[in-house]
Order: sequence, then C-alpha cells, then structure tokens
Amino acid sequence: MNGPESEETPLRRAVCPGSFDPVTNGHLDIIARASRLYDVVHVAVMINQSKKGLFTVDERIDLLRQVTAEYGNVKVESFHGLLVDFCKQRDIPAIVKGLRAVSDFDYELQMAQMNNGLSGVETLFVPTNPTYSFLSSSLVKEVAAWGGDVSHLVPPLVLEALTERLGER
Ligand SMILES: Nc1ncnc2c1ncn2[C@@H]1O[C@H](COP(=O)(O)OP(=O)(O)OP(=O)(O)O)[C@@H](O)[C@H]1O
Ligand SMILES: [Mg+2]
Repeated sequence: MNGPESEETPLRRAVCPGSFDPVTNGHLDIIARASRLYDVVHVAVMINQSKKGLFTVDERIDLLRQVTAEYGNVKVESFHGLLVDFCKQRDIPAIVKGLRAVSDFDYELQMAQMNNGLSGVETLFVPTNPTYSFLSSSLVKEVAAWGGDVSHLVPPLVLEALTERLGER
C-alpha cells in the first residue's frame, strides 16, 4: 500500500503498564496478543521509588526488551508519575490490561475509570490465558526463593536471571 491515504493513517498505539519484576509468561501472553491488535505496543515499566524490587528498573527493561524482540512492534520504556501523562506524551489512546480473576477487577475498574476521567484514555481488558490465571511476579519470586520450579512460568532468560539473583542472597 502506498496511496496517500495509507501514508496519513496514524499508527494505532496501546500501552501495557506494570512493574514487571520480573516479566512472566502471563505478561508476555498479554503483550503478544496486544501486539497483534495494535501497530505499536508500548510496554511501560513503572518506577516506584518506595518499592524496591528484586530487579532494578534497568534490569527489568533489559529482560523485557530481549523477550519481546521477536514481536517487532513492542517498545519498552520506563515511566514515573501518571500513566495518563505517558499516554498523552506519546499519543496513546488505549491501555491494555490482563484480567486474571475477579479479584483483579475491582481495582482495575477503579483505575480504568479514573484514567478515563483524567484524560479520556480507554482501558481494554484481555482475559488471561487460563494457563496463567494464577501467575504473578510476586508468586514466581516467592516460589523460586524457596527452590520451587518456575521454569514453565517465565522465559528461560528470566529463569536464568532469577536463579542468579536469588543465589546472590
Ligand atoms: N498472569 C497474568 N495474566 C494476564 N495478565 C497479567 C498476568 N500477570 C500480570 N498481568 C498483567 O500485567 C499487568 C502488570 O502486572 P504487574 O507488573 O503488577 O505484574 P504482577 O505479575 O501482578 O506482579 P506483582 O505480583 O508484583 O503485582 C497487570 O495489571 C495485568 O494486566
Ligand atoms: Mg500485580
């Protein structure tokens, strides 16, 4: 396509926000699915000074970049402050979030409504792949810290980083 119309069509963008400490197969499932629906998917790693993670924000970004490289249209960045400002600065009209269980819903609904009220940005919920409906970064860290097998829950690269980091402790 090289008509004037296609040149003027703006790229459809969405953001997948989170702390990704570290990225899990559950995150990747949502990011992959978003990457098939949008031209560009921004993965926004939240900087939370009051919460020290297992991995630094730079380490999380580095892991995310490597495991999302195959999608081709995923851009990993960090952000602090309001997600709606991140969206405004980049012309992103949609936030894509995975919903694992009803327990996710209350808080996600509240945030979606707040964000929409603040700036008009829409939030789209993707039902989690049932294989990962119990999966969170916290749980992965906890199980791995006690020597449990998490190799089916995170990409090999993340497993390696986890093993190394937990071994340092
Ligand atoms: N297993 C999963 N299935 C679907 N979506 C998920 C899954 N885990 C996380 N997500 C999505 O990623 C977003 C960001 O997740 P977040 O960084 O809070 O990860 P988390 O795994 O919940 O980690 P934590 O245990 O630290 O809260 C969530 O709001 C949710 O939309
Ligand atoms: Mg969470």
